[in-house]
Amino acid sequence: MKNDIQSVLFSEEELEAIVSRLGAQITEDYRGKNLLLVSILKGSVAIMADLMRRIDLPCRIDFMAVSSYGSGINSSGNVKIIKDLDISLEGYDLLIVEDILDSGRTLSSLMEILSTRKPKSIEICALFDKPERREADVYAKYIGAKVPDAFIVGYGLDYDEKYRNLPYVGVLKPEVYEK
Ligand code: IMP
Ligand code: MG
Repeated sequence: MKNDIQSVLFSEEELEAIVSRLGAQITEDYRGKNLLLVSILKGSVAIMADLMRRIDLPCRIDFMAVSSYGSGINSSGNVKIIKDLDISLEGYDLLIVEDILDSGRTLSSLMEILSTRKPKSIEICALFDKPERREADVYAKYIGAKVPDAFIVGYGLDYDEKYRNLPYVGVLKPEVYEK
């Protein structure tokens, strides 16, 4: 697995610092609100698990799975709900937790779908942002870190469903996906 990584972009310690900062910011902003964290599976599994423990407020969590990437490295643009939420969004201050904002297509479709369900408010927390690749207009209030236009894996992020369990985030060697 390690042999497929070109360089480490964020170490475990750096990820911990990023997530702590996000958690503190969210704690500050959502005091007195009715926070519901929605993790978009599977990429946000690591950040969700760490972030929720850095939020010092009562909150609920739920999960949703959508399809955007297949085994390639580009978003399809069609967001299909594979697993929907268990609870109704009405009255909740919804915070979507996503691994990475790339073209923005996934999150912009998701925002459209979820805002019709009448949450009290809706914001996005994306661990990473790849602004150079943006095609759809999406605003994420909480961003962990900006990343260059390279394909990254680890800490939840995959290539072809692999590398999610790397404890750090690294740039995947292009020869892995150009094969
Ligand atoms: P978007 O619709 O192009 O913004 O794609 C968002 C989704 O693509 C993310 O939730 C990730 O699952 C995936 N993705 C985008 N860039 C990367 C990357 O560099 N590594 C791993 N997955 C990525
Ligand atoms: Mg993915």
